[in-house]
Amino acid sequence: MELLHAIKERRSVREYSPEPVDDALLRSLIDAAVQAPSAINQQPWCFVVVKKPELLAEISEKAKAYMRKASLTAPAHPFRDMFNDPKFDVLYHAPVLVVIGTEQPTDWAVEDCALAAQNLMLAAHEAGLGTCWIGFAQHWLSTPEGKAALGLSASCFPVAPIIIGHPRRKPASVPHKAPNIKWIEA
Ligand SMILES: Cc1cc2nc3c(=O)[nH]c(=O)nc-3n(C[C@H](O)[C@H](O)[C@H](O)COP(=O)(O)O)c2cc1C
Repeated sequence: MELLHAIKERRSVREYSPEPVDDALLRSLIDAAVQAPSAINQQPWCFVVVKKPELLAEISEKAKAYMRKASLTAPAHPFRDMFNDPKFDVLYHAPVLVVIGTEQPTDWAVEDCALAAQNLMLAAHEAGLGTCWIGFAQHWLSTPEGKAALGLSASCFPVAPIIIGHPRRKPASVPHKAPNIKWIEA
């Protein structure tokens, strides 16, 4: 697939078939992720691949409860109804969650992990898989309980929880704002 085509076609996928994702394919996505640029080439990322259904369900429930509690402090939180819905799965029933995190809190670790995440999402798209970055899971995964669930030490922090799976259907396109560009020329 041509790169620009993949960049334009990739969409966040929120409906997955239960079909498992091949381990070798997952490994190839991580190999693509680690080709990302990183500050001073420190490559501070680490990857946790969660395929265990019970753990995926636990992460979804705990993250939702965490977000529900956090949403109570905002008078009109836009996602409160979602967090109150017992049927809402934060991970959209995807068969795999890859959490890209960092072992060393370097100055640019978050940027580095986000670039790795974009590589992973584009490589997945090229392979016919769907992905979605799940910010709703990020806060709970960063708690001591969340880190323990992922087997991460206290000094690690999760940056990019990315769900992966076979899409049930092609998502609709999303609107894109015209870029705000200031040209500074001679
Ligand atoms: C940092 C970040 C956090 C996100 N968190 C969520 C999330 O928790 N749940 C969700 O459904 N989508 C989440 N998304 C996906 C965005 O909603 C999506 O990228 C955006 O609507 C544009 O759509 P597209 O990815 O199809 O181009 C997140 C995306 C990013 C970059």
